[in-house]
Amino acid sequence: MTPYTPLKQIPEKAGYKAGDVLVLFGELFGRGYANGIVEEAQRCGMTVIGITMGRRDAAGALRPLTAEELAEAEANLGGRMINIPLEAGFDMEGPDGAPSPVEQLKGVKADDWDKVRLDWAAIEKSKQAGIARFTGALTTVLKEIEPLLPNNANVLFAHTMAGGIPRARIFMPLLNRVFKGVGERYLSSKTFWDSELGKLCRISFDEVTADTFGYLIDATKGVRERIAGRGGEVRYVAYGYHGCEVLINGAYSWQSYTPYLQGWAKIRLEEVAAKAWQAGVKATVFNCPEILTNSSALFLGVEISLYPLLEALQKEGGGPAAEAVRKSCQALLQEGTTLEALLKKANAYLGSPLLSGFSDYASWPHHNTPAQAEFMLNSSAELLAMNADPKNIVCGELSRQVFHATGKLMLHASWQPAASALWLNHDIVARQIIGR
Ligand SMILES: NC(=O)c1ccc[n+]([C@@H]2O[C@H](COP(=O)([O-])OP(=O)(O)OC[C@H]3O[C@@H](n4cnc5c(N)ncnc54)[C@H](O)[C@@H]3O)[C@@H](O)[C@H]2O)c1
Repeated sequence: MTPYTPLKQIPEKAGYKAGDVLVLFGELFGRGYANGIVEEAQRCGMTVIGITMGRRDAAGALRPLTAEELAEAEANLGGRMINIPLEAGFDMEGPDGAPSPVEQLKGVKADDWDKVRLDWAAIEKSKQAGIARFTGALTTVLKEIEPLLPNNANVLFAHTMAGGIPRARIFMPLLNRVFKGVGERYLSSKTFWDSELGKLCRISFDEVTADTFGYLIDATKGVRERIAGRGGEVRYVAYGYHGCEVLINGAYSWQSYTPYLQGWAKIRLEEVAAKAWQAGVKATVFNCPEILTNSSALFLGVEISLYPLLEALQKEGGGPAAEAVRKSCQALLQEGTTLEALLKKANAYLGSPLLSGFSDYASWPHHNTPAQAEFMLNSSAELLAMNADPKNIVCGELSRQVFHATGKLMLHASWQPAASALWLNHDIVARQIIGR
């Protein structure tokens, strides 16, 4: 089990200088976590290099970005992108004419999902083909990146990849029941996870979310050596999730979103970093707070633990930055609704005795129960309904605050990290926001 090591001090300013390079290992999306570290790197004068996961064409073939897509992505990143598709996973791999996992699942009826029996030998072949494609493309990407690294540059690789839901039609309706189902539509995450489809997800999540970090660290051994020979250093950070301390009844308490089925892969990600760390590589997983992004939208209810950040801003000292966040959040609420009412409701959920069984760090990740799912989804809906405009919500504003603050914390802590896994809880995030 990864020792629980929260970051307690705002890190000293890192020694990154103009000409040092941030390589973003994962594509940058509009409201994604990585925006924070990209911005901070640019503030420090670093050059940013990006990659793409590519796109699938109508026939399912993986392709690079078109000239137009590339121009848009580079403008968004504020840096050059290496346009060689680095899609991780194996759901569409069918080596030597064998059916890919997606093909194996073609035509499965929704009601028959638990009777599916997969050809695991074929899946193993697909997995190996996916690894060969990804690591092969990675070698080519690194060949393009190396000449872009100045002579005495430090290099920071930031791993953002997470995902791996196989793109067979059967999955989304099922996962919607696991993550968003109540009553008749409720589906036990454990029942799903123990099924053949769950097992396929597990292998796929491990591959995309965790093992890609290992492939990156392995493939850049030569880069590390060459950079070290020229007086620089290569460091690695990755975005993790392993619960987060937020204020519940006025005290910081560790809690987590349930059912976080990516959790096993996130533990594996921590293990990848721990192994690299033991070999002397500065690789750190930063376990970050729950925010709303394209990727977390599936996990409805994950955003509830974001509300008490408003209280953390006060507890850590308040001041003009905290006041500005409060003001902009208050402005997003329905007329007649107050932040106090919002926080009271969020606390009623987070502090409920119904959740006490879910606050054990050692047994994480936890599976859902019908009562927990219903309580979480109802609370989430009631809280979201307190916003005036469903497209412009308090959690959007708080998410932006969090990804900016974590980007700063991660970039500076990466210089001399204290452990291979660090938690960025609401206390340190709030202190970063208010500048204390
Ligand atoms: N949103 C949260 O609440 C939260 C909390 C803690 C940690 N994180 C982590 O932050 C990181 C960024 O996620 P985000 O929430 O900002 O969402 P996002 O959608 O902006 O980012 C997801 C990233 O995963 C990459 N990706 C997805 N599938 C891939 C595949 N098959 N191959 C290669 N790359 C793939 C995308 O390119 C993108 O870089 C993830 O590791 C995520 O687990 C998110």
